[in-house]
Order: sequence, then C-alpha cells, then structure tokens
Amino acid sequence: MSKHDGTNDAGTPAYDEVDVSVLVVGAGAAGARTAIELAERGVDDVLVLGKRSHGDAHTTWARGGINGALGTRDPEDSWAIHAADTLNEGHFVNDPAKVETVTQQMPERLRELDEWGMDYSRTDDGEIDQRYFGAQSFRRTAFAGDHTGESMLDALIEKAQSLDVPYRENVMITKLVSDGESVYGAVGFDMDSGEFVLFNAGTVVLAAGGHAAIYNRHTSRDDENNGDGAALAYDAGAALMDMEFVQFHPTGMAVDEDDPEWAPWSGRLVTEAVRGEGGRLFNSDGERFMERYSPDQMELDARDVVARAIAKEVAEGRGTENGGVYLDISHRDEAFIRERLPRMYARFEELGVDMAEEPVEVAPTSHYGMGGVAVDDHGETAVDGLFAIGETMAGVHGANRLGGNSLAETVAYGVVAGERIAERVDGPGAVPARLVETLVESHVADLAATADSDGTYAVETVFEELQDLMWEHAGILRDEESLAAGLDALDRVREKASDMAVGPITSQSFEYAVDVGFMLTAAEAVLRGARERTESRGAHYRTDYTDTDETWRRNIYFERADLGGMTSRVEPVDSPSEVVQDALDEGHELDYHQLE
Ligand code: FUM
Repeated sequence: MSKHDGTNDAGTPAYDEVDVSVLVVGAGAAGARTAIELAERGVDDVLVLGKRSHGDAHTTWARGGINGALGTRDPEDSWAIHAADTLNEGHFVNDPAKVETVTQQMPERLRELDEWGMDYSRTDDGEIDQRYFGAQSFRRTAFAGDHTGESMLDALIEKAQSLDVPYRENVMITKLVSDGESVYGAVGFDMDSGEFVLFNAGTVVLAAGGHAAIYNRHTSRDDENNGDGAALAYDAGAALMDMEFVQFHPTGMAVDEDDPEWAPWSGRLVTEAVRGEGGRLFNSDGERFMERYSPDQMELDARDVVARAIAKEVAEGRGTENGGVYLDISHRDEAFIRERLPRMYARFEELGVDMAEEPVEVAPTSHYGMGGVAVDDHGETAVDGLFAIGETMAGVHGANRLGGNSLAETVAYGVVAGERIAERVDGPGAVPARLVETLVESHVADLAATADSDGTYAVETVFEELQDLMWEHAGILRDEESLAAGLDALDRVREKASDMAVGPITSQSFEYAVDVGFMLTAAEAVLRGARERTESRGAHYRTDYTDTDETWRRNIYFERADLGGMTSRVEPVDSPSEVVQDALDEGHELDYHQLE
C-alpha cells in the first residue's frame, strides 16, 4: 500500500493506494465464491471488500433455500425442468443461456457446499433435503432450516479462509475508475478510519447486491441493497437492463408501526418456507382467499401472483388492522415448526406470538431486483474487465424470480466469472495518468466536500423521501400517470440531495449520503423502465396495460448518454435450447395439493 499525500495545486485530499489484480466488491456469497474459484485456479492477487464486518453480508438474511435439481424427494426433476420453471416464471424475458448456466451447475454447486460444511437439513437417509417453494414443479429447494444464507456463507467463508483469500472489511466503494472502455480500479473510503483509498485493479467484480431497499418497505437492512452495484456500473459506462422488474415478496412482516417493539420489523421477511411447509393465507373474513386467485397452486403460486392477491384483499377492505393478511401454520405441530422454521419461530416468540398457536400478519414488501447490470455469458459488462454477478447482474430471473434462485445464482456466477477472470488476468492494473487527476482526484475531492456539506436537508430525510416516492409511484401496481409523477418527484429529491447536511466520513450520515447517490440512479432506471414497458409481465403490473404483450418480449437497456441523462434501447430475447424447450413443452407445474 502506498500513500498519496495530496499536495497538488487543487489541494486533493490524501488517499491510500492499493495494487491488486482482481478487486471483488462485495463479500456475500457471490463475492466469496468468485474469490474461491480464483484461488483454486491459482490467482491469489485478489482482494475481497465488504461494507460490513467479515461474515456480515446480506446473504445471511436469505432464509428459505437454494435451488438445484438434486432430485432428493422428486427423482423426476432435472436441470432442464428447473430451467423451464425459471423461464416460465420469468415470463420469458430471462436470458435462456444464463438460466441454463445456473440450473445446469446447481446440483454440483449444492454438493460442493455440502463438502465445504454447509449445515443442510437432511432426510432420514442423510440426503440433502429439498422442500416445496413457490411455482416450482418439484421439491428442489435445498435448505438449512430457515437460515440457509447464513449457513451457506459460513461454509463459503471457511473455504475461502482455508485458501487464504485476502479480505478487507468496512470499505465502501464510491466510484469505479473507468474510461467507458476499460476499468482500471475503484475509489472508496475506509469506514472506520475515514481514509480515502484508490484500488488499482485491472479487473473489478461487482458482487454488491441489488436495489430492493430503494423502496420504503423492504426485506434488506436500510444500508444495503441501495443500488450500489447498478449505479457504479452505470456510471462506469455499463448498461442496466430490465430495472422495472422489482420483486415484491408476498410475506413481509405487517406490524403496528407505532409499537416500538414491532416497528423495526416492518417489511422484514417471513420466509416463503412457511408456505412451503404448509402455511396458509387468510383474510380478515377468515377466507382462504388464494382459492379464488389460484386454485391449483394456492399459496405457492408465483410471488407476483400472491403479492398482488394480498394487496387486493387489503385494498378491498379484507385486510388486518396492520394492513396485511394472516399467515397461519398452526395446523403443524410445534416440534415440526421449530425444526423447519427455527428462526421464524424464535423471532415471533420473542415478540410474544406463538406460530404453533396463532397466525402472523404479513403484507408484500420489496425484496429483490430482477434487473441490474447487463453482462455477457461470463458475467462481464461491455466495459472491459468489469464484471457484475449475483443480484447485481441482470438476465437470470426475467420478470419474476423463483424463490431459491437468488442463492443459486450467486454461487453459479461466482464460478463462471472466476473461471473467465483466471484465463485472462495479467497483474495489477494501473490507472492511466489522464484519469488520475480528472477522475480519481476530483472524485476524492468531491467526497471530502460532501462530508463538509452543511446544506438544508437532513440526509435521512432525503433518503426516506426517495424510498417513499418509489413505493407510491413504482410499487406493485403502476400506471403512466403515477410513473410520470414519480420521475418529477425524483427530480425534486435530486435537488434536495445536492443540498444536504452530511457529516464526517465515518458517520452513518455520510454513508447514507453516498447511498442516496446510488439510489437516485437505480430509482430513475426503475421508473423509466416501468414507464417504457407498456404491458404487464410478472412483477411489473401496469393498471393501464393489464395484458402481457408478446411484442414486449424484450429487454430494456439504459446507458449513460455522452451528455448525461439516460438513453434507452430495446432488444429481443433469445430462444431456449431444444432440451429446455422440450421441458417447457412437457408443461410441468407445481400442484399445491401434493402438499396437503
Ligand atoms: O422467502 C424466502 O425465504 C426467500 C427466498 C428467496 O428470495 O430466494
């Protein structure tokens, strides 16, 4: 590491310099799996950066499971049927090649995690158990109780540590060093010391999560999934794709917002595994309303269908006091619930609710961005050396993601990107002199000025205003009027964001101020995409265009125009391979009644 003292005429603040061949931004499952692949292929000049302390990534919040056609319970399952289910529920705007890349690999990835110590729930025969998850033809969701992500990340970290993968915690990346053609590294700050850092890196992997937390009700922590990856890539010259497809998970906690014990839990995930293990939804009239919306797949229909059904029940006056519906698994016995859903049981028990005796209240909540950074088959963007994987990338999930496919994508694309990078990595990058002053130093100076900014608006207020407008204008139901008004409201938030009272670099308010910048980019792309897509498809539901329009079987891309501003283009989607098309033609689908 070297130090740049900041003595030039412009008075650039000091910054450290770190040279590394491959910089992995994000220390969740996708980042960890990439680093493992690189280490196993002999690339050791890698640095994994986390925004939090080691092991504390959003992956730990993933609960219900990870998909792969192991066929433990249903031997007739296959990777091709897994791919067919993924395309079906993605409403055919997924990239079929990426879907195959994930589904083909998953049996091997699941077994490998087993070897690395993942604490899977098992059948009586000791096999990796698999449960039902929404809209999947067979039981293919492997799990560790209801703490699958945590168990998976523990195994990945242990493996990475055994390979001496270098890791640095509490660093936030704020800008990529790119000339639009190639990436040369990244700039950020150490959240503990407040020092600025330039990472010289010829390859940068964005494994930085998604943008679900640009909504005010969401399943992430407030300071993650703010669109960091998408915004960094977009700013560097990569394209964003299909940002309008945001998944609203049907079952976030619905709570009394005035009750200080419950309020922090508002919107937090009640895992789909509750329904996968038999949980039933009831409205306030005691009606099992999914019988009306989806008599065959019931509570385990696709997330978009169940989320809209709940929203409709609530809107039509059949909701609970806290604006949700009831989720009831009390017909299962306590021992079963404690074994299969231990974290859920414990959380509600602490709040005074016994899931074995009574229902819990749930309502839709923003959970996942299906869209993200446009990448090729190897996870590389159009900017040479810049990769985006996991939730940061687009293409696998189409218009609606299957539960359990997000964890699958993290490890599958970690391997794919790692393989590709290992083939071509050639030592630490060096930022070209022309970019040092024009990009690196001016950005560091901007960051320092942000910390000193003593403007009119509190950062937290601007942050929340943005989240509120997204829920109001680009939520479960959208239309032209509301989306146009949302874009106007976003302009007003943008103005306020340029006039905020921030605070020291190590403060939460500084971190949130950086987040606001990322969120503005992600929010604009969601609103613009949703406005441009004049149809309903999967999670994107337009009340003024309620039908799916086959001419819209296309992906929408946003790029940064030379003179600023977002420009869009639209491209058709590829066709699936013959083997997956055959699986589609066979017409597999989940039959809920097998569960009863
Ligand atoms: O409900 C859940 O456990 C979420 C899983 C997922 O989004 O993949």
